[in-house]
Amino acid sequence: MATRLLKLAVIYLIAGMSLGLFMGITQELQFHSVHAHINLLGWVSLAVAGFIFHLFPDLARTRLAAIYFWLYNLSLPAGLAGLALTVAGYAWAEPILGIGFTAVWAAGCIFGANVLLHLTAERQSVSA
Ligand code: HEM
Ligand code: HEM
Repeated sequence: MATRLLKLAVIYLIAGMSLGLFMGITQELQFHSVHAHINLLGWVSLAVAGFIFHLFPDLARTRLAAIYFWLYNLSLPAGLAGLALTVAGYAWAEPILGIGFTAVWAAGCIFGANVLLHLTAERQSVSA
């Protein structure tokens, strides 16, 4: 789980930086919120989750972790695509944006619930 999350995170890093560079060169700055959320929900949040699952491996073995992983990683690209298309002027993409980010929010809540319910001092992996 941690390895997969970190690999997904760097894909978002590359995509987010590339969009930033594109925005800087072309001055198409209207995509700033797409860029910000590729980097922050993609690169930063996935990398932090990857580190947490690496440090606390028991957290990665729960059903909530599996639900978080799939829900987050399916809904984030959909939500970001919906956001990018909406910003580009395609109003038909707004439901994709809305449903996608609502699912991202739900996945984030599931991640939070997993940590709150299953992270205990006794189960911490100090060797990791
Ligand atoms: C090669 C790397 C990057 C380039 C070229 C780049 C470029 C840009 C550009 C051109 C903007 C728009 C600025 C404006 O609207 O005036 C921007 C905004 C932003 N960038 Fe990046 N960026 C890079 C990496 C990152 C990374 C790694 C993160 C986060 C981890 C990040 C977070 C943000 C945020 C949050 C904003 C929005 C600021 C706002 O709208 O108030 N960027 N970036
Ligand atoms: C379900 C998750 C999230 C939703 C629905 C959401 C939604 C939004 C919305 C509606 C805006 C205003 C956009 C605009 O004015 O164009 C915004 C801005 C911003 N959000 Fe989020 N956000 C989420 C998660 C996050 C997370 C996890 C971070 C940081 C780790 C973050 C960082 C930012 C920043 C830095 C901005 C201002 C920069 C910009 O809009 O370019 N967001 N967010």
